[in-house]
Amino acid sequence: MYDFQSEYSRWREFKLAHRSQQSHIELVSIADPNALSERELSQLSTFCNNDNFALYRLDQPSLASKTSIRSMANQIGMISLDQNLCADNDSISSLQVMDLGRARGYIPYTAKALNWHTDGYYNALNEHIRSFLLHCIQNAPSGGENMLINHDLIYIQLHDESPQLATALMQPDVLTIPANIENGLEVRPAQSGPVFYRDSSTATLQMRYTARSRSIEWKQDRNVQHAVSMIEELLTDSDYVLNYTLLPGEGLICNNILHGRSAFTNGNIPQQQRVMYRARSYNRLFSGQ
Ligand SMILES: [Fe+2]
Repeated sequence: MYDFQSEYSRWREFKLAHRSQQSHIELVSIADPNALSERELSQLSTFCNNDNFALYRLDQPSLASKTSIRSMANQIGMISLDQNLCADNDSISSLQVMDLGRARGYIPYTAKALNWHTDGYYNALNEHIRSFLLHCIQNAPSGGENMLINHDLIYIQLHDESPQLATALMQPDVLTIPANIENGLEVRPAQSGPVFYRDSSTATLQMRYTARSRSIEWKQDRNVQHAVSMIEELLTDSDYVLNYTLLPGEGLICNNILHGRSAFTNGNIPQQQRVMYRARSYNRLFSGQ
């Protein structure tokens, strides 16, 4: 693995040469999520090293439980799991349409589209989500497609256009998310930070981004504005964007790449309600960090 700063051109070539193609999306077959074989681990780790993500398919979808998915997460390096507001005690969230409770009103718990983002973009940098896992228990009869793009490829395209654009998005105050206030109480303070930064513990590129346009503040700077509009263009029209709809038993693991989800429509029976398990971690996949 190359350092994206000191060995930039080699890193760039490697990333472009090993990127996934929409026409050749591959899934790693997994026999038992409780005990990944060396071969399965090596395949998953190669995909993640190449492109920051991997897709997998359980040979037996019925083996998925919160316990087995948590075990699988641990085996791929997700040791320290994020306990977000809506996660269960085992740190695994069930993403599904919720009409009641605390999750109500959060877009991941509705059937609405989720615009491009990295997870936890509102977290402080010392709590940056370095990886997440999304496992499909049930899909919806229509919609719910995931959009994915390895953020390394976005950085490369900005840098190709002008290194100044990439640098502009590394400023520590480039993107500010205002505080989260619930019932008059501040549950999260305002958070300023870079879009791209070098994570010193893993020597890798991390991204912090949301495509939402309301309630966020971009630094007023010409290069920032140029870079942000270039990202918006790339996300609507780029060969590097991948689309995939997870089916029951299938999942995504990634180093918190940029992603989104299309709206979906559940069916009328319990077996047609979209349910995803999600785990988030402060650890990078397969890094020991
Ligand atoms: Fe997300």
